[in-house]
Amino acid sequence: SAAETVHDKLRAINDAVDNDFERMRDSEVNGFVELYSRYLKSRSKKQEIQWDLIQQPGENMLSRYDTLAEPPEHEVTGLLSKLAVLKLNGGLGTSMGCKGPKSVIEVRDDTTFLDLIVQQIENLNKTYPGADVPLLLMNSFNTDTETAKIIQKYQDTNVTITTFQQSRYPRIIKESLEPMPATHEGYAHSDWYPPGHGDFFQSIYASGLVDTLLAQGKEYIFVSNVDNLGATVDLNILKDVVTRKVEYCMELTDKTRADIKGGTIISYDGKVSLLEVAQVPSKYIEEFKSVSKFKVFNTNNIWVSLRAIKRIMQADEMKLDIIVNNKEVAGQKVIQLETAIGAGIGYFENAGGVNVPRSRFLPVKSTSDLLLIQSNMYTLKSGSLVKNPSRQFATTPVIKLGNEFKKVAQYLERFGSIPDVLELDHLTVSGDVSFGANTTLKGTVIIVANPGNKIMIPGGSVIENKVVVGSLHV
Ligand code: UTP
Repeated sequence: SAAETVHDKLRAINDAVDNDFERMRDSEVNGFVELYSRYLKSRSKKQEIQWDLIQQPGENMLSRYDTLAEPPEHEVTGLLSKLAVLKLNGGLGTSMGCKGPKSVIEVRDDTTFLDLIVQQIENLNKTYPGADVPLLLMNSFNTDTETAKIIQKYQDTNVTITTFQQSRYPRIIKESLEPMPATHEGYAHSDWYPPGHGDFFQSIYASGLVDTLLAQGKEYIFVSNVDNLGATVDLNILKDVVTRKVEYCMELTDKTRADIKGGTIISYDGKVSLLEVAQVPSKYIEEFKSVSKFKVFNTNNIWVSLRAIKRIMQADEMKLDIIVNNKEVAGQKVIQLETAIGAGIGYFENAGGVNVPRSRFLPVKSTSDLLLIQSNMYTLKSGSLVKNPSRQFATTPVIKLGNEFKKVAQYLERFGSIPDVLELDHLTVSGDVSFGANTTLKGTVIIVANPGNKIMIPGGSVIENKVVVGSLHV
């Protein structure tokens, strides 16, 4: 079969390779070939989701955060001693114009995502001596070397940091469906990719770390995106999963009209499952995006039982839905077969979701997100962001910075200092706009510099409910 041919080809390349970096691990060859053959099968017979089998998740599948009990103080160390924390650290900062792992972008006061995460766990381990919560980083071949260098500076903290590398799979040429690396000669970085965070299950299991953690008495692992500064260790959720023996718990938060992309939890044929936009037949897309029917979306904060991972991986039961990511590499159309950790929910016993407050979902995907995080909307407390109590409204401002602000370096250059946004509802900036130091933005502010025009907001300005177009009239 085509999959067997690819298997033999990868093996042959592997046998001829003479260094560890280029050689695929056995788990990678097998994992890729399994994904690839499932992909080939799915091409010949499309499995569409049956819309009428979808139901709202019941109370047993989606609990409300405010119904969870807070553990009494004397239980906390015991609970935490069962926990390991993992950050998905395979991604690069390229979309914000940064080189290297996304986790090393400076987000606030010269501290990076990684610094803040270490501070959070450091504080936890200091507050509850004996808990000894370890931090794990799942790197990719794109981030591993630089991450290893950076984490040396945390050697003297009370946080044990362990890294492992997720799988590296070959990209596939779209037209021929052949894997990109053709021979063992001339290893090219761009022939390869990390296959999404669904790879977590396979990669942590293959690393041996599941057994190591279990031997240390760890029972649960809390996984989240490295750029989500709201993904702190929550004791109420921890107590709930431990007490109810939940094997997999996904944190979901209320959808607003701006969050139409994220997956949602459903009951499908009576079983808890994740519904992603890619699975939705086109005639139901609008229904999927609406906030009235599908009210919550996946934050990618996931609590998983380590013992359950071991059982499921040993039985080789997990076949996560394949996400086909189309790309162009050096003018050639290629595909990457990826999976997502959220799709794992269907493979665990006693799995479900918890509807958490928005504050547990503070991702930084763009410099617009960065502006909010760096502003006086938040203060930092032991590595965690705390919303400024002086903010009068429950919501945070909606910020849309234009293309001229896309890269972190450009963004920093265009703000003399981060504006006061405490009373801001909405900011849209487009074109060649710069802000002097100590500006204050209130209400709805729209600033548009037309092509060829330049707008400089003078330092100290207070702009309230204003539309500025073309040239400046504050
Ligand atoms: P993604 O890039 O997958 O998702 O990274 P996203 O950016 O949250 O969602 P979209 O693309 O805007 O919809 C999520 C987290 O998963 C890690 C990244 O480093 C990030 O922390 N990740 C992603 C991996 O560790 N490995 C992968 O193969 C992909």
